[in-house]
Amino acid sequence: MIHDIATAREAALTRIAEISSLDELNSASSDLLGKKGALGSLKQQLGALDPEQRKVAGQALNVATAEVQGELAARRAELAAQERARRLEAERLDLTESLARPQRGHLHLVTQAWQRLEDVFVGMGFTVEEGPEIETDWFNFGALNMPENHPARSSFDSLFVDWGTPGSTVLRTHTSPVQARTMLAKEPPFAIVAPGRTFRRDTADATHMPVFHQIEGLVIGHDITFGDLAGTIEAFTEAFFGPGFHSRLRPSYFPFTEPSAEFDIRRPNGSWLELGGCGMVHPNVLQACNLDPEQWQGFAFGFGIDRMAKEFNGVDDLRDLFTNDLRFLEQF
Ligand code: DAH
Repeated sequence: MIHDIATAREAALTRIAEISSLDELNSASSDLLGKKGALGSLKQQLGALDPEQRKVAGQALNVATAEVQGELAARRAELAAQERARRLEAERLDLTESLARPQRGHLHLVTQAWQRLEDVFVGMGFTVEEGPEIETDWFNFGALNMPENHPARSSFDSLFVDWGTPGSTVLRTHTSPVQARTMLAKEPPFAIVAPGRTFRRDTADATHMPVFHQIEGLVIGHDITFGDLAGTIEAFTEAFFGPGFHSRLRPSYFPFTEPSAEFDIRRPNGSWLELGGCGMVHPNVLQACNLDPEQWQGFAFGFGIDRMAKEFNGVDDLRDLFTNDLRFLEQF
């Protein structure tokens, strides 16, 4: 009997070691521990033994059975751990592809041009100012030497806001009102730029938008000359566009400057880009802003930011910058 128990135990442990899945383990477990198993039938034979032998064999059988149960439990834990590891591996998310191709956006082309303009002017010693998009008639026109009924007003195609007396409040048609606001608020000498959003009653086409962006420049000090203006425009042109780009001034007319000029950029290939207007601040403007023209002089300039973004990125039609078609925007 003792020998049979040892053989049955040996066989059971060998079988347990070969089990490779939880399903297999479940059926092996009922085979090995059930009444019809080797250990179970030995147990049934115990009754036929005499008491002394039964005691010894019974103990040996209990020890063997406990050992088989213990091995089964250990194997079950092992298999469950393996199963879990397999499932984790199978369900693992592979994120390497999205790391390799990050879906990153970028700033709008106009914002990029705006920020680069600020950087270049700050590098030249200018500070950045801003003013409101909704302006009074006085700041947008009056302070800039365009009194009521001045013919130049009509060239601005203004959009008026229904506020106060009719015609007294306007969506600013240019960033030039920030000139007046700065002269009234700041002690000269100073050099400022004022980028911002501007509005005109224009139909959108390849080169015009009713909502657009300008940057204004204003330098006020003692003994400021037209040469300072020309030198500043040239220094800006090289700093912003790069070596090989130059500027020229052409005589023009603006009510708020005297003399006035338009400035163009000459590309390295010899072609020209018309950029903006500039001039020496008109004495009437200085006076309107409480500065004595005998003591203070200055120059001002202004140009479109959208056109810069268009030029810089080789965009043909301004409207493409604002329709927010991802197929277009993703090219940059
Ligand atoms: N404000 C003008 C415009 O919108 C541009 C301009 C011209 C600004 C001459 C200036 C300047 O500061 O001096 O067309």
